[in-house]
Amino acid sequence: SLNSGKWTPEAIRALIDEEKGMLDPRIYTDHELYELELERVFGRSWLLLGHESHVPNPGDYLTTYMGEDPVVMVRQRNGSIKVFHNQCRHRGMKICRADCGNAKAFTCTYHGWAYDTAGKLVNVPFEEEAFSGFKKEEWGPIQARVEIYKGLVFANWDPEAPDLLTYLSDATPYMDTMLDRSEAGTEAIGAMQKWVIPCNWKFAAEQFASDMYHAATTSHLAAVVAGLPPEQDLSNFEPHMKGHQFRAKWGGHGCGFYLDTPRGSIRVGPIVDKYYSEGPAYEKAKERLAPLMPYHRMGASHMTIFPNCSFLPYGMNTVRTWHPKGPDQIEVWAFVVVDKDAPQEIKDELARQNVRTFSAGGVYEQDDGENWVDIQNALRGYKSRTAPLAIQMGLNVPGKNNPEFPGKTSYVFSEEAARGLYSHWARMMTEPKWDTLRPQS
Ligand code: FES
Ligand code: FE
Repeated sequence: SLNSGKWTPEAIRALIDEEKGMLDPRIYTDHELYELELERVFGRSWLLLGHESHVPNPGDYLTTYMGEDPVVMVRQRNGSIKVFHNQCRHRGMKICRADCGNAKAFTCTYHGWAYDTAGKLVNVPFEEEAFSGFKKEEWGPIQARVEIYKGLVFANWDPEAPDLLTYLSDATPYMDTMLDRSEAGTEAIGAMQKWVIPCNWKFAAEQFASDMYHAATTSHLAAVVAGLPPEQDLSNFEPHMKGHQFRAKWGGHGCGFYLDTPRGSIRVGPIVDKYYSEGPAYEKAKERLAPLMPYHRMGASHMTIFPNCSFLPYGMNTVRTWHPKGPDQIEVWAFVVVDKDAPQEIKDELARQNVRTFSAGGVYEQDDGENWVDIQNALRGYKSRTAPLAIQMGLNVPGKNNPEFPGKTSYVFSEEAARGLYSHWARMMTEPKWDTLRPQS
């Protein structure tokens, strides 16, 4: 039932007021709400696990999380990918304890139950002597649904949820600016980087969906200036203000992007900047994406696919899942994608530059995390939790939709996409059935 203690559907819906642009800060702190999120948001949404190229060969696997549930993602012999709960059905031990690798089978280290790479229970020690009529086929781990969008592997626990393409709604053209620049597709480079930030997952998800506003203030500006060539005249340096925000028509996804920034200003080093703003790969991408949008006008951008998958297309190419670890902690799992057919020197340089900008110690990454942690700390106070937060930017600001770009767009500094994310969150938290939740055509 959806009536759980104090959090009745009415009480949850009252946490976000889209028309007034007000947000109740308890969505970031309340333990009971968090438990409901694990069930209703993370138990029903398509969640990003990794890239196809993380598991190229049969038996290759990666262990990760869906919400707080550990899972194993494994490449099958027939080329498909399976995702199953990383928990032995015997006494609950993890089936696989490594981060990644290649396996012919997985053997539970507690009492030795063995599973094949599809997650089928195939061997139980002393089955004949110690069990009577035990049905192995009934005791495999829970399987998740798996779907891939242009290299990114998503999984969902819920058999009732719409398919991935329906779920992604009208957000796919914006994903394509990173994933579909070349017919060769993309690949992940470097290892999965992981770090902890003591803050609620929604701060990170919201920022990547909606917040271009912070880039002009948060010391990103210092990082930008530090990355400029020494000969640049800084006397009248101003942050770029031309751009748009996109709010998906369904699903809580959002994106923000600059328009008409000077070429080569991606800020991830001259070699990468050049690859993403001129030359044959860029020209090809422009042509390929032209039916979707004027790619040549697009600058730096950020995006969230609800609930916890975020990335920075346009040459930064960091992709991450904000794994929730309680209401006040996330584990960031990040990797870098690149055009599969990019020259090796671009791949190497992009991996290096990513460490400088958006890794655990990256100059931009630090700025963002610092803000979220300070907010989370402030919310430990009683008063902090009782005063609503303003989420009004862009409300009733007319005439900024740009029909050249897909979907509903507004001025670059807006909280339209944030309101979209929280409204969808409230719907996921209160509507029990996909009949009413799924996008209506
Ligand atoms: Fe896995 Fe016992 S817990 S074999
Ligand atoms: Fe930022």
